[in-house]
Amino acid sequence: MALEFSPETHKKFDAIVGRYPKKEAAMLPVLYLAQEEFGYLGPEAIEYVAAIMDVPVARVYGVVTFYTMLNMKPIGRHHTQVCRTLPCALAGAERITAAIKAKLGIELGETTADGRFTLSEVECLASCGTAPMMQVNDDYYENLSEQNVGEILDRLK
Ligand code: FES
Repeated sequence: MALEFSPETHKKFDAIVGRYPKKEAAMLPVLYLAQEEFGYLGPEAIEYVAAIMDVPVARVYGVVTFYTMLNMKPIGRHHTQVCRTLPCALAGAERITAAIKAKLGIELGETTADGRFTLSEVECLASCGTAPMMQVNDDYYENLSEQNVGEILDRLK
């Protein structure tokens, strides 16, 4: 059966769309909702969103491929996103990423075999004053060091 929102999620969709003057303006929150419901935004999910938003599939692809917080393939339980923009880079982001790669045994864009972590690099997360930093799911971890990042990952089950 093709993907479809649950009745509960469909109510949320209606509420989100109702807050905007044009349906298409609700694209990002609707994509978040779809990602929450389906786990990631694969081709089927993208086609479904295009259909319920009354826009061409290519327009939804354009949005999904632009934003790093939207995932086109399954990710681990803890999406570990290290900021690589200049302030974080100057404060050692590369060393943080290297420490995470070494600890988890994965490269950028990969997921650990147990499905626990996916590692990505992203652009500025607006926390430059506490660089270097990373976002794991919805939480920020700031003032990272090669030592404390390992302890942080150990706490994430
Ligand atoms: S440069 Fe990393 S949070 Fe802004």
